[in-house]
Amino acid sequence: MLELRPERPGDEEAIAEVNRRAFGGEEEVGIIAAIRGSEYFIPELSLVAELDGRIIGHIMFSIITLVRLDRPAEKILSLAPMAVDPEVQNRGTGSALVQAGMEKARELGHTVVIVIGHPEYYPRFGFKQARMLGFDIEMEVPDEAFMAAGLQPDALQDVGGMVQFSPPFDTGTLD
Ligand SMILES: CC(C)(COP(=O)(O)OP(=O)(O)OC[C@H]1O[C@@H](n2cnc3c(N)ncnc32)[C@H](O)[C@@H]1OP(=O)(O)O)[C@@H](O)C(=O)NCCC(=O)NCCS
Repeated sequence: MLELRPERPGDEEAIAEVNRRAFGGEEEVGIIAAIRGSEYFIPELSLVAELDGRIIGHIMFSIITLVRLDRPAEKILSLAPMAVDPEVQNRGTGSALVQAGMEKARELGHTVVIVIGHPEYYPRFGFKQARMLGFDIEMEVPDEAFMAAGLQPDALQDVGGMVQFSPPFDTGTLD
């Protein structure tokens, strides 16, 4: 049985291991730890997927900032990182995590999610090219990999601005 739930104290090492295995390195592990220890962490939006009691997947949404000259800075969400154990990829776990996380984020009242990731994967969850929607980012990212999704009706109308990732992401890379 696959169960999705928010992370709990004691899950840290299992989450790190899934990320290590999925990404083949420590960068995402460091980013997760840095976010968890920061003001940008949202405990309800760090979700694990458990299969028969073992953590096989993880997704984290955290606070980032949207800056525009004509209005105060806004807090929006970043989806990053997400990982599913390579042994059990392509079985819908990643999709279930994205959908559950976006649903919870919507419930919590968040408006916009930004992801930098696989252009073939995220559009199925409603993500669109962010630059086409008026967002920009001070980072060299291909147009098709820089994506945004709205969580509330009309959330992507009259939006846009400069996306600023939070300092914990400086710990490593974004993908
Ligand atoms: C991306 C990832 C989280 C997806 O998890 P998953 O449980 O395998 O996903 P699902 O089973 O819900 O969906 C599988 C789909 O993801 C696609 N996918 C998986 N890895 C992909 C990749 N590197 N690039 C593009 N698409 C990818 C598969 O092709 C499949 O597409 P299809 O449904 O059209 O056949 C997982 O493959 C993973 O951990 N990859 C390594 C880490 C990573 O790249 N994280 C995301 C950073 S943006």
